[in-house]
Amino acid sequence: MRDAAPQTIYLADYTPFGFDVDEVHLTFDLAPSATHVRARIRFSPNPDATDRTFFLHGENLTLLSAKIDGETVKPKVTSEGLTCDVPSIPFTWESLVQIDPAANTALEGLYQSGGMYCTQCEAEGFRKITYYPDRPDVMSTFTVRINGPHPVLLSNGNLVSSGDGWAEWHDPWRKPAYLFALVAGDLIAHRDTFTTMEGRKVDLALYVRPGDEGKCAFGMQALKDSMVWDEKVYGRAYDLEVFNIVAVDDFNMGAMENKGLNIFNASAVLASPETSTDMNFERIEAIIAHEYFHNWTGNRITCRDWFQLCLKEGLTVYRDSQFTSDMRSAPVKRIGDVIDLRGRQFTEDQGPLAHPVRPESFQEINNFYTATVYEKGAEVIGMLRTLVGADAYKRALDMYFDRHDGQACTIEDWLQVFEDATGRDLTQFKRWYSQAGTPHLSVTETYKNATYTLTLTQHTPPSAATPDPQPLVIPVAVGLLDASGAEVMETQVLEVTDATQSFAFAGHSEKPTASILRNFSAPVVLEFDADHAALLAHDTDPFNRWESGRALALASLMAAITKGTAPDADYLQGIATVLRDESLDPAYRALMLGLPGQSELAAALHRRGDTPDPQAIYDAVQGMKDALAQTLQDDLPGLYARHQIEGAYAPDAEQAGMRALGNAALSLLTRLDGGDTAQAQYDSATNMTQQLAALACLIRAGRGDAALADFEAQWKDDRLVMDKWFGLQVGEAKPDDAVDTAKALTRHSDFNWKNPNRFRATLGALAAHHAGFHAADGSGYALLADWLIKLDPVNPQTTARMCSAFQTWRRYDQIRQSLMAKELDRIASTPNLSRDTTEMITRIRN
Ligand code: PHE
Ligand code: ZN
Repeated sequence: MRDAAPQTIYLADYTPFGFDVDEVHLTFDLAPSATHVRARIRFSPNPDATDRTFFLHGENLTLLSAKIDGETVKPKVTSEGLTCDVPSIPFTWESLVQIDPAANTALEGLYQSGGMYCTQCEAEGFRKITYYPDRPDVMSTFTVRINGPHPVLLSNGNLVSSGDGWAEWHDPWRKPAYLFALVAGDLIAHRDTFTTMEGRKVDLALYVRPGDEGKCAFGMQALKDSMVWDEKVYGRAYDLEVFNIVAVDDFNMGAMENKGLNIFNASAVLASPETSTDMNFERIEAIIAHEYFHNWTGNRITCRDWFQLCLKEGLTVYRDSQFTSDMRSAPVKRIGDVIDLRGRQFTEDQGPLAHPVRPESFQEINNFYTATVYEKGAEVIGMLRTLVGADAYKRALDMYFDRHDGQACTIEDWLQVFEDATGRDLTQFKRWYSQAGTPHLSVTETYKNATYTLTLTQHTPPSAATPDPQPLVIPVAVGLLDASGAEVMETQVLEVTDATQSFAFAGHSEKPTASILRNFSAPVVLEFDADHAALLAHDTDPFNRWESGRALALASLMAAITKGTAPDADYLQGIATVLRDESLDPAYRALMLGLPGQSELAAALHRRGDTPDPQAIYDAVQGMKDALAQTLQDDLPGLYARHQIEGAYAPDAEQAGMRALGNAALSLLTRLDGGDTAQAQYDSATNMTQQLAALACLIRAGRGDAALADFEAQWKDDRLVMDKWFGLQVGEAKPDDAVDTAKALTRHSDFNWKNPNRFRATLGALAAHHAGFHAADGSGYALLADWLIKLDPVNPQTTARMCSAFQTWRRYDQIRQSLMAKELDRIASTPNLSRDTTEMITRIRN
């Protein structure tokens, strides 16, 4: 077995486990520091395996006894698990272990949060609960008995029976251990029911801490909407008598799809108009859908090994994005997703952490729950659907569910159903799963003899993960417009497969204007000298219309940063025209007022060989916002006034869009009126969207102190709202102040640094504050490194994820690079650094 030196695990080394697990019986005697877990597991030799080594994973367990078929055995125990001699025929393994949930600050395995017990087992947390073959291809039914003095005792599946101080649950669906869950505590249930299309009645419950009862209704509705949608769109019905969701304060991620017992970070499920913003509501709806959709894509069909993570995550993200598009506005959702993809996934793909959607090696799997696996994984499925068409996609998915229900699968299985359903050869397409890096697609145009020709050249920059990238299959959606803006060719999908390829469009009596990569049909960097002004005015594709505004803003900002030029008048006028078009969705117009993020600008500068100067980038963005405010000065008061809502608050897309535009207008207006309108909005706000937006404006205007104090007094007892209070102060600080603000907040009595939400709200906000984090003296780097070093022994998973703040270090000037390198080395040399953080720092530093 392995000892201290981290080992690399390879996809190519996969072998099946030597034994099948026929059934699992667990009994928990809960006690904060000495919980006893009794396991009775039926094993039989796996006919498909050759290696019969009986190795059970186990970490931080005290083994009290072990038996095989009732006879005491003495297994060989290491820090990673145990081995034991076993019979060559089916046998029953029994073990008793002791664990310490109260001391579990890593939030993996069985732990305590706010007085309750809960579990997190994905990816490899079950081995911290009992000895087990903790790998996703080992699937079994589970029966779980919980003994504990708690009114609520939950596990997966259906309730068998319960009494005072105990409950027994049975999950009839075979599942891997990473989907195991247990919850115990003094919780309040918000209940509802749902009847599936198959006529099965399902009891739904959302369990929360006392005091949070008022924040359950929206999540419950989102759950029911998700259940209906999955029946209608994918033909998938729920398959147990109960579906439970539990809100937990201390959680490393957003939420977890445990079979029949989803566990959520409280921030990803609890919502009320007074405490949650419209963006919170939309995110909660999407996460509830995501976890629910996992019941089929992840649970009924799971992953053979963790290299196949995108099999469940890419598909489930794709499904939740379809859901949000259906529930709300499809173009608005698409634009938001692309902003996010460029901000997080492109950054990853273009730096030292680049890895394929299906990685081929890892040291710590927790480090691969990435934007590449999730978001690029979803983009790959979107491309597949674009290439084969909606009908064939549906047929392939039906075949996937049919063929693989109950199995642990691979990307090969996934692609095979598409090949079988469509007759298409996906050999080349599969490179999207195996190659890292963001492809660049450069496009040139010619026009001759009424024929318009586009020549597309693809190039993926080589990376450590993929030194020799090969051409990909890239679906490029293209439309053509004439000079008046009328569409002369509807959207066509060009299939680019070669390094360079031309497509001719005959019969155009005048040179058309091309709208390329409509709806962002592939996750690439497009290089095309498009007529952005014309497209901003006329494009019939809402994504590309927005994209044209974005491209003009980017070009203008780049010129301002590098040459000090004034904001582009055509851009400002073009945006003004769009904003005045009352026929356009307010949410869409609000997006039009957005500017590229500062780190996106840094990436663009770096890509073309310039060294980004964070302060210059910040100044250019401020200059552009001032110019927008000036250009729109006559419009803003009316725009603001027209987008206030009289009646009751609803978190729906329509109202949210109104508020988004109203608040975008407020933000610009604050540059003109010094914050008077914002103060009035703050004073009269009755929902968090309005209150928080006004507070942000006041801070930016330099007059936020009174409102911040008022906000703290109003919300000091609400953990989720106080996360906003911590985060906003850092996020809205002037570059010179961001580090000091963050530092002061870490000394605040409510800075509970062991809570991942609070830690991220404060230090994550610093990392996201481009000019603040990159303060020239290195103080931002040092502060973050100090806290990562402090958090690592307590919570390696959250520490490792936050190391990614340093992934762009090579973009910057020599002085900043050496300041960041120094902090990376300081973290790396910390004694007993976790495997998680060691792997991240090593990859980033190289
Ligand atoms: N599987 C979870 C999801 O995508 C994410 C998660 C991973 C949560 C690991 C906890 C731990 O929905
Ligand atoms: Zn997921």
